[in-house]
Amino acid sequence: MKIEASKKLPKAGTIEIAPSILSADFARLADEIAVIESAGVKVVHLDVMDGHFVPNITIGPPVIAKLRKYSNLVFDSHLMISEPEKFAERFVEAGADHVTFHIEAANEPKRLIDKLHELGATAGICLNPDTPVDSIKDVAPLCDMVLVMTVHPGFGGQKFILDAAKKIIQVREIVGPDIRIEVDGGIDPQTTPIVVSYGADTLVAGNAIFSKPDRVGAINAIRQAYKEGHNIKRRGTRS
Ligand code: DX5
Ligand code: ZN
Repeated sequence: MKIEASKKLPKAGTIEIAPSILSADFARLADEIAVIESAGVKVVHLDVMDGHFVPNITIGPPVIAKLRKYSNLVFDSHLMISEPEKFAERFVEAGADHVTFHIEAANEPKRLIDKLHELGATAGICLNPDTPVDSIKDVAPLCDMVLVMTVHPGFGGQKFILDAAKKIIQVREIVGPDIRIEVDGGIDPQTTPIVVSYGADTLVAGNAIFSKPDRVGAINAIRQAYKEGHNIKRRGTRS
């Protein structure tokens, strides 16, 4: 099999919802992803946890490889794992189009970003709520998307941390308008206008979508929330 990610993140300039399957029915993942695809989202967020970097365990490359056969969405894999450089290639091989790793976990982040690009994937760096923005200032401009955590990683359904969200403003100043800023944790119709006004353009939502019987309705409620907030000035973005 050729190792080359094929689907690309939408170019910066649009707001995208990236449903996180963490709160989906893991016994029916392909069906769950088909439903969100029918709602018109372009990206699905796949949370990978190793029980070491975070105190929870989820999925790895074998599950992603199986899902790849059932979906045309951009696979945005969020690696909450130690030593991401050891495993990144296997995720791209399995079908991940975008690979985000944590700045706290990587020894040589620049090298890993280069490697992901060589593999044809896009690259993302992630910042935990307690990690200063300064720690990513050199690598963020090399990425295609920066992920700002608004909960401590490990579990879905946690409370949104407003102080962590405020880091989006600083990250936007560092990366300018052409790099996506993704926000992850406690995103719902109430928190959406806040993070969009700070400059986020890629909204991960797990519990707010998959805890609802009507997943499509839940996605539309988030869309409605950012459309209603559209006259709030979006910092540092082109649109
Ligand atoms: C948490 C994960 C998130 C999680 C978000 O560690 O990275 O992607 O699924 O879940 P909600 O939207 O429920 O906060
Ligand atoms: Zn995530």
